[in-house]
Amino acid sequence: MTLNLNSQQASGDPAATTILALTGVTAGYGAGLILKGVELTVGTGHIVCLIGPNGAGKSTVLKTISGLLHPKSGQVLLRGEDISRLSSRERLNRGVVHVPQDRSLFPSMSVWENVLMGAFILSNQALIRERMERVAELFPIVTQRRSAAAGSLSGGEQKQVELARSLMLDPALILLDEPSIGLDPKARKSVFASITALAEDGRTVLLVEQNARSGLAVSHRAAVLEAGRVALTGTGEELLNDPEVARLYLGASARGTMSAAVTASQKAAEA
Ligand SMILES: Nc1ncnc2c1ncn2[C@@H]1O[C@H](COP(=O)(O)OP(=O)(O)OP(=O)(O)O)[C@@H](O)[C@H]1O
Ligand SMILES: [Mg+2]
Repeated sequence: MTLNLNSQQASGDPAATTILALTGVTAGYGAGLILKGVELTVGTGHIVCLIGPNGAGKSTVLKTISGLLHPKSGQVLLRGEDISRLSSRERLNRGVVHVPQDRSLFPSMSVWENVLMGAFILSNQALIRERMERVAELFPIVTQRRSAAAGSLSGGEQKQVELARSLMLDPALILLDEPSIGLDPKARKSVFASITALAEDGRTVLLVEQNARSGLAVSHRAAVLEAGRVALTGTGEELLNDPEVARLYLGASARGTMSAAVTASQKAAEA
């Protein structure tokens, strides 16, 4: 793999080739199924946002892609290759990284050491140094707070370090589970800016977000997962403008938008 940009990938071209496809994926934790036939396609270089209610199975989808969980049936295809029986390590080797929902840094280790941990399967020191330099360019906090204990950073700063760490294996596909959860508005904004920067850097991002409005706004494509199935797909913009999506997932700001629209149409009717 190289760190060179591919212009088609970077632009999130709608005609992008498919990097990831889930076909008829069923999975669960015991006898019961959580995913009940998930169909999902992700284009190379796109940001794809998965939204849906708590417990719908969004995190389970990401685990099934990264190999923390193996599907009971169906396929997870990476560039056409069925990876659904491979281990997490084998999927990492193919460029699939997973940034989980919970904070995952080692709090007493330094920022720099944490980022280095992202390269744990590499042994080529020159390559690791080169990657560190590249990652620090994208995430200046890696050098600015190099020696600080990761646990002493704010939630937003820790998330930036986690994103930086995820780049150390030069991934093609980054799975982000609720990266903005628990962050204040400023830190949330930085996270979404970083996600856009990852795509501009040629990565494909599959993003799970409770902050659906912000998640959809940065995404090329999006899907709604309900009760273990994909209920709706479209561009990020289409889902942002879908009244049912707004009612169910976009919260107060969506109601604001809708009431503004109602007010506008009332004014138009009165005129
Ligand atoms: N390790 C586990 N063992 C057993 N059941 C689990 C496990 N992890 C998740 N589940 C169950 O699977 C279902 C889907 O969980 P999942 O975490 O995928 O949902 P989610 O859509 O990510 O929800 P949230 O928005 O709350 O993060 C839930 O009913 C949950 O209780
Ligand atoms: Mg989840």
